[in-house]
Amino acid sequence: MLSVVILGTGNVAENLIHALYHSKQAHLLQIVGRKQHALNKYTGKAKITSNFENIEDADIYIIAVSDSAIQMVAEKLLGKQGLVVHTSGATSMHSISSVNKGVFYPLQTFTKERILDFTNIPICVEASNNQGLELLHKLGTSISSQVHEISSEQREKLHLAAVFANNFSNHLFHISEMVCAKEGLSFELLKPLILETVQKLESLSPYKAQTGPARRKDIPSMEKHLELLPDEEHKKLYTLLSEAIMKTYEKEL
Ligand SMILES: NC(=O)c1ccc[n+]([C@@H]2O[C@H](COP(=O)([O-])OP(=O)(O)OC[C@H]3O[C@@H](n4cnc5c(N)ncnc54)[C@H](OP(=O)(O)O)[C@@H]3O)[C@@H](O)[C@H]2O)c1
Repeated sequence: MLSVVILGTGNVAENLIHALYHSKQAHLLQIVGRKQHALNKYTGKAKITSNFENIEDADIYIIAVSDSAIQMVAEKLLGKQGLVVHTSGATSMHSISSVNKGVFYPLQTFTKERILDFTNIPICVEASNNQGLELLHKLGTSISSQVHEISSEQREKLHLAAVFANNFSNHLFHISEMVCAKEGLSFELLKPLILETVQKLESLSPYKAQTGPARRKDIPSMEKHLELLPDEEHKKLYTLLSEAIMKTYEKEL
């Protein structure tokens, strides 16, 4: 059994705590966070402490805190024998000063209010030595069927791709919901379209899957849409994205 200490009580920590608590190969030893009230709900699942000077000895320490706090929290673990990892897509492994260090980056969007099944979540691992890498494979496969060895440089690019795929598309869903709400239309009407947008990627590349006015270079429809949009920021986004789509397909138009 791998003994694990989780540092942090946010979106990722909450999901990892749930997954590791139910894993047969990992023992969730302790949860460390700076707010006692956020820790109290884990009573009975693992030891809890809000004192970062009081961290138990474990095989693996998972730092699941805000990117800007990783380095500082990692310093609290200097002198520990176990492997120290963070869960960030955008942060170098070298922000951790311990000798035995690594990264355990689950490539998914996590929110505290939604507990996810890790089985199909890709876990991107990296470590400063082979022993650490072996430990991370063991930990990763205890909760997921997908563990990938990814370097810091590759992970930065993967994180960038994830921002386009998830953060930006989700923001566009938000705008879409606002456009509906202004007309008293339910966002539910768009959900089958949103689901198909993603499901069709199982059989088509994003390039092949594109449809719509910009893909067809239907200028009158696009001009009409711009007139209907009251928000200047949304007009700019609409124009920028439409131009990017037209440029992508210009040879075919
Ligand atoms: N959310 C995602 O979809 C996602 C996906 C993959 C990877 N990640 C990565 O996972 C890590 C955690 O992200 P998250 O979404 O879980 O963040 P989050 O929900 O904002 O939680 C951040 C956690 O960090 C703690 N924290 C912040 N500053 C601290 C400090 N100075 N000292 C001690 N603890 C501190 C917070 O404590 P308080 O509650 O006390 O403020 C909280 O427990 C980040 O590196 C992020 O890049 C996130």
